[in-house]
Amino acid sequence: MSARHFLSLMDCTPDELVSLIRRGMELKDLRNRGVLFEPLKNRVLGMIFEKASTRTRLSFEAGMIQLGGQAIFLSPRDTQLGRGEPIGDAAIVMSRMLDAVMIRTFAHSTLTEFAANSRVPVINGLSDDLHPCQLLADMQTYQEQRGSIKGKTVAWIGDGNNMCNSYIEAAMQFDFQLRVACPEGYEPNAKFLAAAGERVQILRDPLAAVAGAHLVSTDVWASMGQEDEAAERLKLFQPYQVNRALLDAAAENVLFLHCLPAHRGEEISEDLLDDPRSAAWDQAENRLHVQKALLELLVEPAYHHA
Ligand code: CP
Ligand code: NVA
Repeated sequence: MSARHFLSLMDCTPDELVSLIRRGMELKDLRNRGVLFEPLKNRVLGMIFEKASTRTRLSFEAGMIQLGGQAIFLSPRDTQLGRGEPIGDAAIVMSRMLDAVMIRTFAHSTLTEFAANSRVPVINGLSDDLHPCQLLADMQTYQEQRGSIKGKTVAWIGDGNNMCNSYIEAAMQFDFQLRVACPEGYEPNAKFLAAAGERVQILRDPLAAVAGAHLVSTDVWASMGQEDEAAERLKLFQPYQVNRALLDAAAENVLFLHCLPAHRGEEISEDLLDDPRSAAWDQAENRLHVQKALLELLVEPAYHHA
């Protein structure tokens, strides 16, 4: 199938990613100025959510409406996907009716299998491996608040999860150094680490990881699907809480980002989202703007009149 997909940051060139961020900022400005911009009139995005979501659902749904199109929320609970219809068959049928499909799922192979059978673009709205749309928002937020991230040092503190894997890909694509501080056994996926080579350093000590860092980020200690491990992780990850004292050890102009939802008192201190160094609320908002830029890039523009 020839459609262009966005399953990972590696599906775009570094130049395309920089353009997406710039375009996200332009679309944000248009919306702030109340300018109507509807290139995707009559276009329909299907959104399959096998996991919960607030930001991803809202940003794609609102984004499609703002671009003149529509979005349809599909849950496995009330589609045939939940009753075992093969993902490839679902992809063939859905992609004959929709103009793009966003999927939030467990196994990354669900995305690749759907994409292999889809006539229309498929977007990764989070898998167990990656969360590339969140990284677009993170990179837009850093650009807005501090300028280019090229050559900077980023510290990822905590679990080597899907967000961390996407930070590794971002390090390669946006050209920054990444330090990951995680407990032994909770490292990011070896495949992504191998691809990144010298760009990523694994450390055990969060203080060493944040020393001189320009951006610090973290995420929940137990991701969706790991609920059974939550209690054990809570104990093990205690030394990895990001708090004001830890940020004090970073570069003076450090920015803190969290993809949200956050567990205050666990991976971040109670007060961290109120710290002036945190841009988590802007980061959440930027999901809307930069994903509109992504939809603009991937989805065919409006039909012609007959
Ligand atoms: N950050 C993020 O993807 O949030 P949701 O789980 O609410 O979509
Ligand atoms: N790592 C988290 C991110 C949620 C947006 C999860 O997968 O649950």
